[in-house]
Amino acid sequence: GGVGTATGKRVLLAEPRGYCAGVDRAVETVEKTLEKHGAPIYVRKEIVHNRHVVETLEDQGVIFVDETDEVPEGSLLVFSAHGVSPAVHDAAASRSLRTIDATCPLVTKVHQEAKRFARDDYDILLIGHEGHEEVEGTAGEAPNHVQLVDGPDSVDRVTVRDEAKVIWLSQTTLSVDETMQTVARLREKFPTLQDPPSDDICYATQNRQVAVKAMAPECDLVIVVGSKNSSNSVRLVEVALGAGARASYLVDYAREIDTTWFDGCQTVGLTSGASVPEVLVRGVIDLLAEHGFADVQPVTTANETLVFSLPRELRGSRT
Ligand code: F3S
Repeated sequence: GGVGTATGKRVLLAEPRGYCAGVDRAVETVEKTLEKHGAPIYVRKEIVHNRHVVETLEDQGVIFVDETDEVPEGSLLVFSAHGVSPAVHDAAASRSLRTIDATCPLVTKVHQEAKRFARDDYDILLIGHEGHEEVEGTAGEAPNHVQLVDGPDSVDRVTVRDEAKVIWLSQTTLSVDETMQTVARLREKFPTLQDPPSDDICYATQNRQVAVKAMAPECDLVIVVGSKNSSNSVRLVEVALGAGARASYLVDYAREIDTTWFDGCQTVGLTSGASVPEVLVRGVIDLLAEHGFADVQPVTTANETLVFSLPRELRGSRT
């Protein structure tokens, strides 16, 4: 079959994709809090970086705020999956807010590492994206010890007090390859740089990148479903292009797809970020089928079984 017929057109569907255990827990935390306490409840920042999730919860009576001072005294406030600094916990306490913490346990783990190495008076080089909520929270655990390193090009500006006591940590949702380049540059500068006690880039981020890398070389186009402010989703587009996809785009919804992207395509790859509900991927699969891409083949590189229990305040109510 030649180009322009349905013959040979296929979709490679990355597996794993979509919700990670931390997002699943955070979204369920908000849903359960609503059920238990009724609207309105407040959430500081987007619970997870996905437009559809946020808008759906808003329709159910969740009010998203930027800071604790926007929340009426005595109200119920949920902290997002990305984590918060101790200063934010203090600010909430000073307004007598009741809080439920939906921080992903794998983000909390990085907070613990930052605290521990700060206690031992290390210089902590936190690799991450300037302005991202997660690095603001992690850095806030030890503001006097943490320096942000935003990619390989910012290594030149890093200075430390004692080269024998330097450790790098990272945001959980970075590109694995770019992070390794940053670490290599840091290590050229500080040969005794210590590695984190365990991987900070989380299992879900790594698994989604591995799956995209496996399929991208065969793809004319890779569609990543996810929001523009979702770090791990944006990384999937970069990974797809780096691994040989001819083109790659990030979309929140099927309706954002420009169908001229399909022109001349035989193989379209499809994946989604860790904050993306599967219904949005379904929408893209339906659109692809309407355009002759009805043959959907999974590309499976890992099986995920991790589940986190809900925050203490809500336990026993998981359905
Ligand atoms: Fe947690 Fe990783 Fe998801 S840090 S929220 S499991 S992307």
